[in-house]
Formats: sequence, C-alpha cells, structure tokens
Amino acid sequence: MVKEASHLANSRVLPGFSTPAVGFEAPFDMLEACHERVADRLALLKRLPIHLQANGCDSQARQAAADVLRYFDLAAPLHHQDEEIHVFPHLLASADRILVKAVMGLHLQHRVMEETWGRLRQVLLAVATCENSAAEPCRVLAASAVLGFTVLYDDHIRLEEAVIYPAARRAMGTRQTQTMSADMMLRRGSAPQAVTLTPFQKATRLRIDSASGLGSG
Ligand SMILES: [Fe+2]
Ligand SMILES: [Fe+2]
Repeated sequence: MVKEASHLANSRVLPGFSTPAVGFEAPFDMLEACHERVADRLALLKRLPIHLQANGCDSQARQAAADVLRYFDLAAPLHHQDEEIHVFPHLLASADRILVKAVMGLHLQHRVMEETWGRLRQVLLAVATCENSAAEPCRVLAASAVLGFTVLYDDHIRLEEAVIYPAARRAMGTRQTQTMSADMMLRRGSAPQAVTLTPFQKATRLRIDSASGLGSG
C-alpha cells in the first residue's frame, strides 16, 4: 500500500494523463491510458477496506484515500467529457442500432458513476482526514460499496475499448481526430489555440461547462 500510494501521489500534471509515451496527438491512445489510470486507482480502492480493517486509519490509508479522491474528482470527469464531446456523437449518427444503443447506455452510465462517486467520496474524505484511532471510516467504507463502484467501471471500460473506440476511430476523419486532440488540450489548460467544434459538440460542451459551473466562455 505504501509503495503504491506514494507512486500515485507522484503522478503528475494533467489529470488522467501521466503516461509519457502517449501524447495528445494520439487522443484514443490517451483515452486508453486514462483507463489504465482508472484501473490503478480502482485496484487501490479495492484494497482500502481490507487495509482499514487490518491497520485502522493510518497514514497509508489516508494517502491512498487522497489519491483516489484526487483522481476521480479531477481526471475522471474530464475523461467522461472527452467521450461525450468527441467520441459518442460520431457513433450516435450510425445506422447500427446496436451500436447506438450501446453508446446511449454508456452515456447513462457516466451519470450513474457520478452519482455513485458522489456518495463514495464522502466516506473517502472521512478516511483521508481521519485520526489514527478513528474507527468510523473503517466501518463505513464497506467493501460492497467499493465493489459496486469498481464493477461499474470495469464493464464500462471493457465495452469502450472492445467496441466503442474502434468504431469511433473508423468513423472519424483526420480533421475530427485533430479537433478532438486540440480540445482535450484546451479543456486541460494547455491548448495553443481555439478549437472549432460542430454545433452538436458545442451544445454538449456548453451543457457540460454549465453543469460544472465553468460557464460557456
Ligand atoms: Fe466512458
Ligand atoms: Fe472511458
């Protein structure tokens, strides 16, 4: 736990994008790299209830909880937005009704994940700030709640990587992929220039920015 928590604490920079070998010029590779980061945090999260039961709310538990909080508060929402602005719209126009249904299901799962995370993060906040002797976070961080959250992500990521990303890669042209890459940078504060979005993408982004309190500008 110590080694992993410390490693995660050193993850850098743009939320969800800490694999040096993968750049924004390859946005789908970046999305898959983000999935790897999700898997790392979920593995850490799954071990946390066991660690708490065995060791109480020690510094390692607090560090692990803080790492998981940082990731799912900052990087995971950006990743969902990447998909909703740039990946899903291209597939919703498909004649493949099974594919369209799958995309709509994934979109809905993003909302379920956000709601589930909203409840789980309250408990993790208690762990991240607890005292060594505190028993309450150990009791309330139920393994079943953690498992429910991790299963949501496991199935979701599997479908995206097996079906959705390959279909989107086929559906998107070079210009659309470049726009996606530039917008991913822009939304993380490192884009060199403005990005031209389609009306649908603009509307999706406006809705996302409004919901997050960022406004439209
Ligand atoms: Fe997703
Ligand atoms: Fe994803």
